Amino acid sequence: MRLSMGSVSFAAKKPAKSLAPGQRQAVVIAVAAQKGGVGKTTTTVSLGAALARYYGQHVLLVDLDAQAHVHLALRELVHVGGDSLAELLEEPTTREVAEVAVGTKIPNLEITPGCPELARAENRLSTRIGKELVLRELLSVSRTHYDIILLDCPPNLGNLTINGLVAADCVLVPCNPAVLSVSGVEGLLGAVDEVQRALNPKLAVLGLLLTRVDQRNASTNATISQLLQENWGELLAPVQVSADAAIPKAQLAGQDVFSFDPHSRAASQYSELAEWTLARLGAMGLRGEPVVEERAAENG
Ligand SMILES: Nc1ncnc2c1ncn2[C@@H]1O[C@H](COP(=O)(O)OP(=O)(O)O)[C@@H](O)[C@H]1O
Ligand SMILES: [Mg+2]
Repeated sequence: MRLSMGSVSFAAKKPAKSLAPGQRQAVVIAVAAQKGGVGKTTTTVSLGAALARYYGQHVLLVDLDAQAHVHLALRELVHVGGDSLAELLEEPTTREVAEVAVGTKIPNLEITPGCPELARAENRLSTRIGKELVLRELLSVSRTHYDIILLDCPPNLGNLTINGLVAADCVLVPCNPAVLSVSGVEGLLGAVDEVQRALNPKLAVLGLLLTRVDQRNASTNATISQLLQENWGELLAPVQVSADAAIPKAQLAGQDVFSFDPHSRAASQYSELAEWTLARLGAMGLRGEPVVEERAAENG
């Protein structure tokens, strides 16, 4: 906006961000589902840990759920520090998500600390101008500090989940082999459609991920797999995560499954999911190359 007073003009400048740009270009993945208990947090934490531990990725986990389960699941590995994400969401600010994040004992893995005030932020967002775009703006410079940013969304289609879908390049939808869980997939994909049309045309579906698949329920699993295959076959991830006691045990111990039991089935499946994720992002044209390499290529 330019205000003019005679020969003097005042350009209303956008305040500069407090975070200096980095040299990466993160892909932002929202892990979202309309239902609770389908494995969003477990998938965010385990996929993020696998990408950081085994695939050399600089990863940020953003916990958008007031239940603070990301922090809880990793509490023995999280360093002291970090700040409230809710405060950034509630008022205009020059600060960025990366500035409130905290490191972990897992090299290259950072998280936003557990933030119960997100329940308040969910409501306060309603009063903000451009309420759906707030998180995207808060990640604009943070993206240049990581390779992958995973957003653990709350179990509803409220303001925080919509902010997640608007900020994301793609969405990963965990689902359990149960009819009630599958019914939520349709609602979530409907929201993805709406967000694509109105706010984020580039939003893509990374995949539907079957989690907590109990191999003892073979006939239910087969029926649900068929249902998913018929409706969203091309979106169904080829990797599935079995029900494995190593997951709740690791969460009870406050560690990721790779540090708690690296030989467990869930550990090897989540590692496979990480490999598939990188390949799929590449196939979707979403793998951001580090800016340094691009510059080197331009100069060469
Ligand atoms: N593969 C798995 N095997 C066994 N239990 C699991 C598995 N994935 C998740 N769980 C358990 O299911 C519950 C819900 O998972 P969670 O990731 O918190 O779901 P959401 O974030 O969607 O609410 C948790 O108690 C978690 O320990
Ligand atoms: Mg959760």
